[in-house]
Amino acid sequence: MSQNLSRKICILPGDGIGPEVTTSALAVLRTLELPISFSIEAGGYEHYLETGQTISPASLKRCMEADAILYGANTNPAGDSGYQSLTLLLRDSLALHGNIRPVLSFDPDSAVDLVIFRENSECLYVREEREIPDGYDATRRITRSASERIARLAFSYARENSRRQVTIVHKANVLRKTCGLFREVCFQVASEYPDIEVREELVDACVMKLFLKPSSFDVLLTTNLFGDILSDAAAALVGGLGLAPGANIGERHAMFEPVHGSAPDIAGKNLANPTACILATAMMLEHLQFKVEASRIRGALKQLIQRGATTRDLGGTLLTSEFTDELIGELRTQTVRSGSGDDQISTLR
Ligand code: NAI
Ligand code: MG
Repeated sequence: MSQNLSRKICILPGDGIGPEVTTSALAVLRTLELPISFSIEAGGYEHYLETGQTISPASLKRCMEADAILYGANTNPAGDSGYQSLTLLLRDSLALHGNIRPVLSFDPDSAVDLVIFRENSECLYVREEREIPDGYDATRRITRSASERIARLAFSYARENSRRQVTIVHKANVLRKTCGLFREVCFQVASEYPDIEVREELVDACVMKLFLKPSSFDVLLTTNLFGDILSDAAAALVGGLGLAPGANIGERHAMFEPVHGSAPDIAGKNLANPTACILATAMMLEHLQFKVEASRIRGALKQLIQRGATTRDLGGTLLTSEFTDELIGELRTQTVRSGSGDDQISTLR
């Protein structure tokens, strides 16, 4: 491939199972022999305990210069340890305002294939909490500009990916100002996309419908806290956190990660399911315009999972490293139809 296609990515393994799942993803990436250079950066809670910093300025700079970041997970200790979450530090420093979480089932009998767009910078997560006489109160910030930004991301994604419908999820019947504004701005943006059907749901009813009839959803567009809860819940529809990837997108930077955390209960035991991180890698490859390779990865994962070659969380017996080897074997031998819309058949060695 020509040099001008070359991409630079930073891998941030982080804590717990982060290093295990990113090692697996890196092995998959290497198999694809793409013109991508890697740098592996230290960061996270264990790094903080050793150095007093969540991430060094030099590593953060390399992340900012990279075309994309692949992130494992970090541990957020309970209580006030002084540690600043690596996830939040990256979201803030790189202005990653849009969180995209696809929920796709590998089960041939299931029709779950939806994508959640979650505003990533405001809502209750501005973390402005104040003491009041009998407890605390917290700020829920919703702005026109941030709402418009995430709405555009969702509608343009829907158009570019032939998705038929966007559902705006809110609670404007109770939160008339904040959710009211979010709803209003989303409908304004929707009017620029007459080709996409727009619907709205109250968040509580939405969760119920999501569980009763997930196939009725396509793209969901919502605020930060609702999106956080909805997307973890939706992950349960397709086999849990081991299968759920996410992307954090800003104007200039993009970070891809499994939705799960550092899973201290299984860390260091070679038990983690690396699928979520590998699916995040596929999202990253799509972002870097390696769309055929992204669909090859998904195709190979589907083959493995459908024939029951899975890690323990999905009822299988494979260790993380064994699952990775199986996947690499599948990628090397499998012939898959490219996802690029044409009829090209691509074969890896
Ligand atoms: P978690 O996602 O780490 O684990 C929840 C449960 O799911 C555990 O039983 C774990 O073993 C299982 N699990 C998660 N990922 C798995 C995988 N790939 N394969 C197999 N099983 C998997 O969430 P938890 O336990 O609430 O948090 C643990 C730590 O991670 C905490 O310090 C938390 O703050 C942090 N966290 C970090 C995130 C991030 O860095 N993006 C996101 C969520 C939590
Ligand atoms: Mg969450």
